[in-house]
Amino acid sequence: MSLESIVALTKRRGFIFPGSEIYGGFAGTYDFGPLGVALRKNIVDLWTRSMQEHDNMAQLDSSIVTSGKVWEASGHVSGFSDPLVLCKACHTKHRADHVLEAIGVTADEKMSEKELNELFDEHRKNLTCPNCGKKDFGAVTAKNLLATTSLGMFEEGDTQSYLRGETAQGIYINFKNVLDTGFYSVPFGIAQVGKAFRNEISPRQFLFRKREFEQMEMQYFTPESEARADFAAWKEERMNYYLSLGINPDKLRFKQHENLVFYAKDACDIEYEYPFGWGELEGIHYRGNYDLTQHQQFSGVDLSVYNEETKERFLPHVVETSVGLDRTMLMILSDAYHEDEMGGDKRVVLKFNPKLAPIKAMVSPLLKNKPELVEKAREVRAALKKVHPVIAWDDNGNIGKRYRRQDEIGTPFCITIDFDTLGENPELLNTVTLRDRDTGTQERLTIAEVEEKIRQAVS
Ligand code: GLY
Repeated sequence: MSLESIVALTKRRGFIFPGSEIYGGFAGTYDFGPLGVALRKNIVDLWTRSMQEHDNMAQLDSSIVTSGKVWEASGHVSGFSDPLVLCKACHTKHRADHVLEAIGVTADEKMSEKELNELFDEHRKNLTCPNCGKKDFGAVTAKNLLATTSLGMFEEGDTQSYLRGETAQGIYINFKNVLDTGFYSVPFGIAQVGKAFRNEISPRQFLFRKREFEQMEMQYFTPESEARADFAAWKEERMNYYLSLGINPDKLRFKQHENLVFYAKDACDIEYEYPFGWGELEGIHYRGNYDLTQHQQFSGVDLSVYNEETKERFLPHVVETSVGLDRTMLMILSDAYHEDEMGGDKRVVLKFNPKLAPIKAMVSPLLKNKPELVEKAREVRAALKKVHPVIAWDDNGNIGKRYRRQDEIGTPFCITIDFDTLGENPELLNTVTLRDRDTGTQERLTIAEVEEKIRQAVS
C-alpha cells in the first residue's frame, strides 16, 4: 500500500484536504473534512479516556499564544532549530540532515551549526538537490522552529510572543496552579490536547511532518526516587495502549534514544512502520526536573512542593508521554487500509477498530421506492441512534454499491431492512441483516440484538 493511495482515498471521501487548496495550497497544513473530524475526535476521546483511567490525572487547556519568556526559559529560543540549506540553482530550501541522509550520512541531532557545516562540506561534492538534482548548495544555517506572532505586540520593545512549539510548556507553567487547587498531590499527571506550531523547513510525508499540528501530551510529576520506575511503567502502558487499539504489533517497536539531550535522564520513542518506513509515533521522556527548574528560575516563582515526611521542599521530576494526533491518525489510516477482493470485485476497505470508526453503522432499506421498507428502516435507524448518534443512512444505488462505499470509509456494520423484516416470512418478522465490513458475511438478527452488538463494539 502506498502513501499516495491513502492521500487519494482520504481526500475523495472527506477525511483530509490539503490546506488552502483553492489558492494553490499552503505547505505543512491540512484541513479535516467530515470524516476526518469524526476520526480525530474518536482518537482524542480514547487517548483522554486512557489518561482518565489514572485517578491522579488532571486535564488542562492552556493558551496557544504565550509570553516569549516561556520559550526563553524552556530553551526553545536559543536551541530549537533545524539545519537549513538553500539550493542556489533552484532556490528551494532543504534540511541539511535530510540531504546528508539521502547519501547515507547521519548527522547527530546535537551537532552545532559549525560541525554540521564541516560535515556538509566533507560530502558536498556528492550532495544533490532533491528538487533539481544540481550540486549547488549554500552554507548550512540553524533555523529556529518556533513560529513568532505579533499578537499582543504593538510597539518596538514589546516582548516577542510565540505560537507554542509544544503543549508541554503550557503544562509546566500551570503545574503550580493545578497543584494549588488542592485536588492533586505528587505523584500526579497533567494531560493536554492541543495545537502546536513549528516552522518546519520541509514539511513532508502527508500528516507526518506538518507546520500546524496537534499534540496529546501528558506530564507526570513524581519524586525523583520513583521516576525511573514511572518511566518504565509509562513505556509499557503506552505500548499496550496501541496494542489494545488493535494496531498491528509487527509495525510497532520501541526505539531507545542513544544521544540524550543534556537534561534528559532517559528517552525512547514508540515507532510505527508508516508506508514510507519506520518513524516516531510517540516520545516517552524522563526529563528530570529541568523544566520546572528553568521556569522557577526565569519566573522567580517558587514551584517546589513540600514533602510532609522529610519536611523538605523539592522540585518533582517529570516523565512525559508525547504523541501527535496527526501521526496517530496517519498510523490508524495506514494500519486500517486494505485492498482485497470480495465477491469477485476488487475493493478498498478501511478496517478501523469500531471504537475509532467515524461512522458506526449504516442503515439501508433494500429498495428505496418501497415506502414500507423506508419507513421501517428509518425506525431502525432512530433506535440505533440512541445507542450511538453516528449511524448513517444510504439508499443510493444498489445494495452492493452502498456496502462498498461504507467499506471505503471503514463503517464496521451495514444493516439492511428487507421484506422479511416486515414479515413476508413471519418467522423473520422484525429481524434485519447485519453485514460485517471485514468478512462481508451477513447474519440475521433482531433489532435488539443489533443494538447490543453495536453497543458492545463501540463502547
Ligand atoms: N513535548 C515533546 C515534544 O513536543 O516533542
